[in-house]
Amino acid sequence: MPEFARRTRLRGGGELTAILAGSPPGVLSMTGGFPNPATFPTGELDEIAARLFREDAAVALQYTPCEGIASVRDYLVERQEQLQGRRPEPAELIVTSGGMECIAMMCQALIDPGDTIAVEEPSYLGALMAFAAAEADLVAIAMDDDGLRVDALAERLGAGLRPKFLYTIPEYQNPTGRTLSLDRRRELVELCRRHGVLIFEDVAYRELSFDGTSLPTLWSLAPDVVLQAGTFSKSFFPGVRLGWATGPAGVVAELAVVKQNTDQCAGGLGQRLVEEYGRAGGFERHLPATRALYASHWAALSAALERHMPAGAEWTEPTGGFMTWVTLPEELDTIALRPAAMEAGVAYVPGPPFHVGDAGRNTLRLSFSHLTEPELDTAVERLATVVGAALEPSPGWLA
Ligand SMILES: Cc1ncc(COP(=O)(O)O)c(C=O)c1O
Repeated sequence: MPEFARRTRLRGGGELTAILAGSPPGVLSMTGGFPNPATFPTGELDEIAARLFREDAAVALQYTPCEGIASVRDYLVERQEQLQGRRPEPAELIVTSGGMECIAMMCQALIDPGDTIAVEEPSYLGALMAFAAAEADLVAIAMDDDGLRVDALAERLGAGLRPKFLYTIPEYQNPTGRTLSLDRRRELVELCRRHGVLIFEDVAYRELSFDGTSLPTLWSLAPDVVLQAGTFSKSFFPGVRLGWATGPAGVVAELAVVKQNTDQCAGGLGQRLVEEYGRAGGFERHLPATRALYASHWAALSAALERHMPAGAEWTEPTGGFMTWVTLPEELDTIALRPAAMEAGVAYVPGPPFHVGDAGRNTLRLSFSHLTEPELDTAVERLATVVGAALEPSPGWLA
């Protein structure tokens, strides 16, 4: 065997591999943040793909400019203006091969070993792994029901913390489902502007509010201090591996250079699919049904949690996205409970991997995107049985 690079020992990853591998038959899985296949617009895609093969092969099947196909970039600029009320300059936007690629590119562009990244905690596992592999020093900033605690960040910055950037997911956060309040958004951009800290805003779930409303993005409030990563994985389909980065021209230019060292360009076919679908009004036509589906799944999961979970368990109340975050009584350990849960036929992701240290032992993440509503009820019933059994006092003779 060759001697593998140091970063292979730093990045962790068992948890993500397990999520992507799926669960054994008979196990109801609430692990992955996978979109529900019922939301994939296959009929329209069929027609668009056939047309692209017939009429646009020279562009759609070819390598593309590193920053993306010009017409696709134009479309994304218009889309930013339509959805976020601010129109980026062409130099402020680049097409990416998805949100995760943007996270990796940000590390390559900005992080030397030992540099500091501030992250809200808990946070997206893929990002934490990428930051660890980049040998960053991670500083966790606490959250509450209104999202990142800006007062906690202010305290750290006041004490001299100077991160290369702050990573945050303002809407329906992965893993907690929480949303950063409007007041905090304003405070956060002001604070970071004052201290010269770049905000790395991940808007992966933003278009999936249950009621179709949304708060202003951090980038729209402060395009001078925010680099936004967006993805079509949740609102279109992840097989397309496509997203965008919008932010200060200097940062975007550096991302374009980095991209020459990764895949050089996002796939042309996916870019043209998104453009044609979007320009034909596909998102406006389909997203209401997609939102309604996830809202209904959440209603089912929420009712199941109320019905089955033992006293002492608490969970967040997302207003969009795929996830809720469950906190069990202090004495329980969700990593230790997992084999019993799998045995009972239910899978979840334990909380600790979403943390910088090993906090969160009594927490877990549930995704409600994928299972059917009756399955969600059964899955929670199984989980509640396992949790209930773990809470039962052991018989006196065992003590
Ligand atoms: C918060 C967040 N950011 C980024 C991603 C990755 O998105 P993509 O599929 O575009 O790489 C995910 C995927 O689950 C996510 O939850």
